[in-house]
Amino acid sequence: CGIVGYVGTEDAKEILLRGLEKLEYRGYDSAGIAIANDDGIHVYKEKGRIATLRESVDESEAGMIGIGHTRWATHGAPSQLNAHPHQSTTARYTIVHNGVIENYEYIRREHLPHVEMVSETDTEIIVQLVEKFASEGSETEEAFRKALSVLKGSYATALLDLEDPDTIYVGKNKSPLLIGLSDGVNVVASDAMAMLQVTNEFVEIMDEEIVTVTREKAVIKTLDGEEVTRDPYVAEIDSTDIEKGTYPHYMLKEIDEQPFVIRNIITKYKDADDSIKLDEQVRQAVIDADRIYIIAAGTSYHAGLVGKELIEKIANIPVETHIASEFLYNMPLLSKKPLFIFISQSGETADSRGVLVNVKKLGHKTLTITNVPGSTLSREADHTLHTYAGPEIAVASTKAYTAQMAVLAIMAVDAARAAGVEMDFDPLQELGIVANAMEIFTEQKDVLEEIARDYLSVARSCFFIGRSMDYHVCLEGALKLKEISYIQAEGFAGGELKHGTIALIEEGTPVVGLATQEAVHLNLRGNMKEVVARGAYPCMISMEGFAEEDDKIVIPKVHDYLTPLVSVIPMQLISYYAALHRGCDVDKPRNLAKSVTVE
Ligand code: G6P
Repeated sequence: CGIVGYVGTEDAKEILLRGLEKLEYRGYDSAGIAIANDDGIHVYKEKGRIATLRESVDESEAGMIGIGHTRWATHGAPSQLNAHPHQSTTARYTIVHNGVIENYEYIRREHLPHVEMVSETDTEIIVQLVEKFASEGSETEEAFRKALSVLKGSYATALLDLEDPDTIYVGKNKSPLLIGLSDGVNVVASDAMAMLQVTNEFVEIMDEEIVTVTREKAVIKTLDGEEVTRDPYVAEIDSTDIEKGTYPHYMLKEIDEQPFVIRNIITKYKDADDSIKLDEQVRQAVIDADRIYIIAAGTSYHAGLVGKELIEKIANIPVETHIASEFLYNMPLLSKKPLFIFISQSGETADSRGVLVNVKKLGHKTLTITNVPGSTLSREADHTLHTYAGPEIAVASTKAYTAQMAVLAIMAVDAARAAGVEMDFDPLQELGIVANAMEIFTEQKDVLEEIARDYLSVARSCFFIGRSMDYHVCLEGALKLKEISYIQAEGFAGGELKHGTIALIEEGTPVVGLATQEAVHLNLRGNMKEVVARGAYPCMISMEGFAEEDDKIVIPKVHDYLTPLVSVIPMQLISYYAALHRGCDVDKPRNLAKSVTVE
């Protein structure tokens, strides 16, 4: 979910709606705004996209203060009733909230036994709690602080008080939150992108802080009531990068951008003498580690699986890659000198951030590899490596994935060289070859569109099999397909399918085989024969040098370490066209959000 708030001198509804449009990547199943003016507080909320909300808002609704929300449902189905803002029983208080209140059942029972709830959300208890404390005699700020002190879980929340309609009360714990400052105008946002329309000067709010925001100022306090001062920073985001141009979808644009992104990474990580340019402290952190723990979610986790191969093979440092949400509550035994690497496109994923907070408490070193350098994971880790992919808007991640792997390869070689390991692999040069190879696919899309139509326009399921490095890419290929086309798709290690899942192969089931690793390509071809013998419809992707006549797609020869960066491109494009042919919303697939800021 994402939240916004505005208090200034202009039409709040328009600024809030525009802000929410920029936050839609955080969830888009329902949305709402509340505007305060002399007639009271007016709430508009709708199931569906911001566009639907926009249509429902009374054009003459005037007010220079308001809050807004775009939702990715956690408690309670997406519906108008569960959409934010929520109001207290007397409607004195109105609230928006991003996060999850873990003890909401308890609060409801213990603190609000007689309050009738209107929605099924955990959010409503916050606003009811504030009202309860206010009715017991607390001023709003105190009531708000008392309410937040009872909560367990995550929140970025903004509250309006009908009796003091010039103030937005804001609170934060775990979920990201920024206050934007300008002259006679102050704003609230989950992400700076939403409020670049007003200002580029932001103050970061820390966990368990509350802020009272008025036109003139934003006063930050801890939950204990102590005032905090913090300098603002300037958000360096170019809002023009966020446009789709002539492309029908962001996803297609972002797939096409990958050769440029890789060339950009080469430039950013190349020194004048053609050697690798990398922060000395990052280098030291990597070579000092006796074991690296990569923590990530979704597509970034898949990049982390490839990262493990790269770092172990190139730099000789043992690596474990973990799913953030698993690591968070089931930490393995750690080595003596671990380095934690967080891979995250957005830098905001709550699961990864949870791990970061925990390992920092244990005193461990941390590095974030992200596409958003000012993000929470970047700010809170000891070091950051930037993936320079430019804003990624489509929910299904494409260019961020290839960029993450490119940076991991560079980092691995840099560490290996610093540790005196001899090698003839020059990542900057090899990535140049990768960028050219990527172009072959981004320029010849018709073949891939045909494969998508042929294999996937009516398929119910699809399997992806590969071995070693290719296996990791198969996981990503399957994830892309299921995310946007809703076809049940699974990636398997080539040898594993026959140990159970082969039971699902029927006449005509599409199976994508990926064989770019010379050492195992024959084994994989054997696995493909096993499924074909049981009726599978095979789509073989191989690499120049050991391709066979029936192979559907042959990727140009690139270095063994870097094949995932190229082999994933046809998979991304096939998924894109499959989704298109099946009439799916490519950029905003159902049930998903680009950045999941709840656990
Ligand atoms: C969400 C997105 C995925 C993404 C994952 C991790 O679930 O839908 O596409 O891979 O979060 O996001 P991150 O920003 O941490 O890479």
